[in-house]
Amino acid sequence: MKTIYLDHAATTPLRPEVLDAMLPWLKEDYGNASSLHRFGRTTRAMIDEARHRLADCLETKANELIFTSGGTESDNAAIFGAAAGYTAELRKQEAGRKSGPGHIITSRIEHHAVLEAVLRLEEQGVDVTWLPVDRYGQVQVEDVAKAIRPDTFLASIMMANNEVGTIQPIREIGGLLQSAGVLFHVDAVQALGSLPISLQTLPVDMMSFSAHKIGGPKGIGALYVSSRVRGWKPLMLGGSQEKARRAGTENTAAIAGFAKAVDIATKDLSSKQPFMEKLRLLMITALSDGLQEFDVVVNGHPTDRLAHILNVSFPGTDTESLLMNADLAGVAVASGSACSSGSHERSHVLGAMGLSEDVMNSAVRISFGIDNTVEETIEAANRLIPIVRRLGGRSGHN
Ligand SMILES: Cc1ncc(COP(=O)(O)O)c(C=O)c1O
Repeated sequence: MKTIYLDHAATTPLRPEVLDAMLPWLKEDYGNASSLHRFGRTTRAMIDEARHRLADCLETKANELIFTSGGTESDNAAIFGAAAGYTAELRKQEAGRKSGPGHIITSRIEHHAVLEAVLRLEEQGVDVTWLPVDRYGQVQVEDVAKAIRPDTFLASIMMANNEVGTIQPIREIGGLLQSAGVLFHVDAVQALGSLPISLQTLPVDMMSFSAHKIGGPKGIGALYVSSRVRGWKPLMLGGSQEKARRAGTENTAAIAGFAKAVDIATKDLSSKQPFMEKLRLLMITALSDGLQEFDVVVNGHPTDRLAHILNVSFPGTDTESLLMNADLAGVAVASGSACSSGSHERSHVLGAMGLSEDVMNSAVRISFGIDNTVEETIEAANRLIPIVRRLGGRSGHN
C-alpha cells in the first residue's frame, strides 16, 4: 500500500531541481563567503545572486532580505529586534517624552514562533493586546484600529494561517499601522508559494519566510526588513555576515536551494492554485458523499483562504484516533501546527475561533502539494471514510 502524503503545510518534499542546485555547495564549492580568496569569492557571488533572485520573486530590493535559519528565527528576529530597537530609542529620548515598556499588538492565531516570542516580551513587562478572531479565523481591521496606542511599537499578524488557511486582511491592517507609525511584521511562511507577494506594494515593514514549505530545504528562510525601518536590532550577534544583521557563517547549500525553490514556486503560482483548489474540492465532495449520514464540518474562511489547506472536523470522533488510524491506513494528515500535533495539544487556533468542543476535538488538517494527484486524493478519501464510520462519527446535521 502506497502512503499518501497530505501534510504539505507541515513540510514539503525537496524538489529534485532544488537538490541539484544545492549539491555543488556541499561538494566542491565549500568556501566560506567571508574568505577573501577565490573559494570565498565563489560562495559570496552565489549568495549575492541568490539574494537578488529572491528579491526579484518578492518584488523588493536584495539589501532588504536577510537569510535566517527559517521561519522560527525570522519571527523571533523580527519581534525581539523591534523590541530591542524600541528600548534603545526610549533610553535615548528625554525622560517623559515616551513612557512605559511599550505595547505590541498580535493575534491569538499566530504560529507558536510568534506567540512564544511575544509571551516572552510580555513576561518582561511589555503590554500585549491579543486580538481575537471571528469564527472563520480572521482578524478584524477595526479591532486593530482600536488597539493602537501612543506607545505601540509593533504589530505582528500572519498573512495566512497554517492550521485553517484563513487569509488575513494584511493590506488594510498595514495601511492603518503605517499611518499610526507602528512597525508591522507579517509571518508569510505559509503564504509563500501560495499567494502572490509584492513587498514593493504591501504596507509591511518586516516579513518572515521559510524554504521547506515550498519544496526547499529545512533550516533556511529569510526575514525582509524594509529600508524604511529604523531602530531594528539583530538577534544573532557575532560576525558581520548579512551586513551585521545576522551573524553566523552562511548556510551556503541551503541558500542556493532556497533561491531555486522560490524561483520555481513563483513561476508555478498561477498553475498551482487552481490545481490545489481542485484537489481540495474533490476531497470535500468525496468525504461528504461517502459520509452522508455523518457531520462533516469544514473549518476556516469559505473564500479568504489558502487553496492547499483543508481543515475538516468529524464530530463524534477524536483527532488523535483519526490521525493514528489514518496513518495505519497509509494517509499522512495532521491536526494543525506541527508542534501541536506532536504533543496532541488542543489547537489554540480552533479555540480562538470559538468552535464547539466536538468540532475542535475532531479536526484534521489535510494539506495538498504539487506532487499529489486526483487519483491519490480520491484514494485518500476512500481510506478515511471507513475510519470516520468506525470511530463513530456523529449522525444527523446539527
Ligand atoms: C505560519 C508559520 N510560521 C512559522 C513557522 C516556522 O517555520 P520553520 O519551520 O521554518 O521554523 C511555520 C512552520 O510550521 C509556520 O507554518
